[in-house]
Amino acid sequence: MEKLMVEKSLPLTGKVRVSGAKNSALPILAASLLGTEDIILEDVPELRDVKVMCQVLESLGAKVEKLDKNTIKINSKGLNNYETQYELMSKMRASFLVMGPLLGRLGKTKNSLPGGCAIGTRPIDLHLKGFKVLGAEIDGDHGNISAYAEELKGDRVYLDFPSVGATENIMMAAVLAKGETTIDNAAMEPEIVDLANFLNKLGADVKGAGTSTIRIKGVEKLGGGNHCIIPDRIEAGTFMVAAAITGGDIIVENVISNHIKPVIAKLEEAGCEITVEVDKVRVKSMGRPKAIDIKTMPYPGFPTDMQSQFMALMSVSEGTSVCIETVFENRFMHVDELKRMGADIKIDGRSAIIQGVDNLTAATVKATDLRAGAALVLSGLISEGVTEVRNIDHIDRGYENIEAKFKALGAKITRVEE
Ligand code: UD1
Repeated sequence: MEKLMVEKSLPLTGKVRVSGAKNSALPILAASLLGTEDIILEDVPELRDVKVMCQVLESLGAKVEKLDKNTIKINSKGLNNYETQYELMSKMRASFLVMGPLLGRLGKTKNSLPGGCAIGTRPIDLHLKGFKVLGAEIDGDHGNISAYAEELKGDRVYLDFPSVGATENIMMAAVLAKGETTIDNAAMEPEIVDLANFLNKLGADVKGAGTSTIRIKGVEKLGGGNHCIIPDRIEAGTFMVAAAITGGDIIVENVISNHIKPVIAKLEEAGCEITVEVDKVRVKSMGRPKAIDIKTMPYPGFPTDMQSQFMALMSVSEGTSVCIETVFENRFMHVDELKRMGADIKIDGRSAIIQGVDNLTAATVKATDLRAGAALVLSGLISEGVTEVRNIDHIDRGYENIEAKFKALGAKITRVEE
């Protein structure tokens, strides 16, 4: 097991390039099962979750070849297996995203229930509801979920909540269904738009992605194509908070500024000076951050995946901040770890009240999930002493070269064997 040793490093300055988005790469890799010709994906982040997804694709009969660090070639012509392995599924919740493509292409799929970050119960009822509307029969036994359909037929699916995964899975099942599918109350995240753009490059007919109504006209088959993954808005946001929390001045490159509007707005409220250019953003701290309030919401609201990093910032802001988590019911696990570093946080249901303290102090802490891990690294950068962040396999699931990128900004951070 490895761990990160993080020392007080004030201020962070310089430039950092954001990698391709994990949450775009994973569904797009899954969607590659729908194509029958060569697919080349660029700017795929080199992450543990991506590796697992590639193994899932290979286990189903796809050929996956790494052309270079961030370019992957996939050919799914030989797709011949509809059952995913428990060992792979249990490593990552997003592996469930192959269910839609398998149902679309082979008419059947069998999967064990997904693993991944323990941030709430995370049911998959909405994914299954969508498959059922398209005509699939669903069976569940012994921890497995199977779906079968002689022929998928397009229809209207209404999502009770704009779930990202359900929107993606249903969209992927519908591209090869007969007739037209409409997804109402669809998720509007940029990663949904990236997936739709990718599917359309392969020959699909998807319209309306990025709005709450997506229309998919089924086509006979999908071919191949090239696609470059969009930049990771959560990684960008994490480095933006790094500038704010360390009193620094950082230029974050390879960003789509429209995707990070809530993060920009909240950092401005906290007192940072932000300059936005076409594909980069500069965050300059203007002194101790001011207290702010945040409420997580589906896109274009404030992203739940930035909540823990902002909680680290609020811990040392001047005044009292309030943070309300509306997307996941159990996403405050980092609070106990932040408290061990001296943060003053009280939880009441889905709300956290954070009384900013003058300083945090180093402690041994553990990453309870991916973004919680990032919050602990950020806290370590401003704490007296050496913070030991354990369970960093969570961090490696979603941040490419995290310590190299932080080091280039002047952070004292090293990875060591436990
Ligand atoms: C995706 C992201 C994750 C992000 C989340 C919300 C990927 C790989 N992961 O996760 O980083 O935090 O979006 O932006 O893209 N829900 C149901 N029933 C369902 C599906 C979801 O009740 O069938 C609930 C969940 O329990 C949760 C909420 O809907 O409370 C949001 O989940 P969802 O949008 O589906 O998140 P994921 O796709 O799992």
